Amino acid sequence: MKILIAYGTRYGTTKEIAHWMYERLPDGDHDVYPVEKVKSLEPYSHVIIGSPLYDDDLLEEVKTFIRERCSEFRKLHVGVFGVALHHLGKGLYGNPDGGLAYFDRFLKNLPVKPIYSRLLGGAIHPELLNDEDRQLLQRFYEKHGTEGIPFQQEAKKSEAWQFVEKFFQYCQVKEKLKKRI
Ligand SMILES: Cc1cc2nc3c(=O)[nH]c(=O)nc-3n(C[C@H](O)[C@H](O)[C@H](O)COP(=O)(O)O)c2cc1C
Repeated sequence: MKILIAYGTRYGTTKEIAHWMYERLPDGDHDVYPVEKVKSLEPYSHVIIGSPLYDDDLLEEVKTFIRERCSEFRKLHVGVFGVALHHLGKGLYGNPDGGLAYFDRFLKNLPVKPIYSRLLGGAIHPELLNDEDRQLLQRFYEKHGTEGIPFQQEAKKSEAWQFVEKFFQYCQVKEKLKKRI
């Protein structure tokens, strides 16, 4: 078994989550890379793909990765995680299912059905934001009556570890079902 965790990130939270997941993988020679650095999926039996949510969409590089690797996914055990704020359905943009609605689109973009998928909590570090993102969030929070962009931390190592544990539980179930056929 060789596992790849491939992620996109703008400000590092999804990278941190991917590395937490990496710590929880079974013993072995596994990899954790940003999607742009993945040369081939050939060496892997399992791939876990992660993207944060920006403005109700995936990061462009993750969409490209999915598009270009489409045919290779079919041979692998695939897991998917999204990273968003208010990921339990409160909705950053006034939509009660904000994060979750985007996540459904993420899954629809995939050429295969993942073995396990889950939306995880992200973070906002206002001091890291580039001008465009700062302005966008400032407008958003002003509209909702908040002055300034609040620091937010919803990313948790325990959630990342639970993701990995569940993913492998479901992989085992898949293997057992295959043997029965
Ligand atoms: C400009 C901007 C737009 C965002 N849009 C959304 C959004 O539409 N819905 C949401 O739940 N979170 C949104 N977020 C929160 C990000 O998903 C969260 O900050 C995530 O942790 C970013 O991950 P990264 O640090 O790996 O890039 C947004 C964040 C920024 C800075």
